[in-house]
Amino acid sequence: MKIRKLNKKEKPPLELLLLADPSEKMIKDYLGQGDCLVAEINGQRIGVLVLLHTKSNTVEIMNVAVDEGYQGKGIGKQLIHNAIAIAKEEGHQVIEIGTGNSSISQLALYQKCGFRMVEIDHDFFVRNYSEDIYENGIQCRDRIRLVQEL
Ligand code: COA
Repeated sequence: MKIRKLNKKEKPPLELLLLADPSEKMIKDYLGQGDCLVAEINGQRIGVLVLLHTKSNTVEIMNVAVDEGYQGKGIGKQLIHNAIAIAKEEGHQVIEIGTGNSSISQLALYQKCGFRMVEIDHDFFVRNYSEDIYENGIQCRDRIRLVQEL
């Protein structure tokens, strides 16, 4: 498997990005400004991550997704470790990521990658998404922000 940054002329894998974020509009907004990493096997895109410079010395992972047939094999972890390495190389001091209160396995993964929870934005998903989102039998209402110093 190979992880590489897409150049601006290449089309990002929208189907994969939609696994992590149901809003095509939001995806298009951050894709325009961020770097898109893809994980490929024999040229087939099986994972994606979008890294965005948000504020001074800080980058945020806006989207990370792995094709359902390849999940649980360490690819998401490798994409996140790659993003951390890129952020360090570029001289940023903080990397952050947000997820929903109902995203139990994502919260596990991000903490295993070194992120700590720092903030809860109550009802973020209720305010920003037109449809109710449920995962693991829990309504996704609140956005948990996790950060890691580099
Ligand atoms: N308790 C403890 N650890 C858990 C867990 C749980 N309930 N659920 C998952 N994990 C751990 C796994 O054990 C593994 O860690 P390990 O390598 O130390 O064993 C890690 O989380 C999963 O790592 P990995 O195999 O690299 O994840 P992945 O390739 O399946 O990618 C996602 C993870 C989230 C990107 C992928 O599942 C996905 O695309 N999901 C849909 C899109 C999405 O939700 N994106 C994130 C939006 S916030």
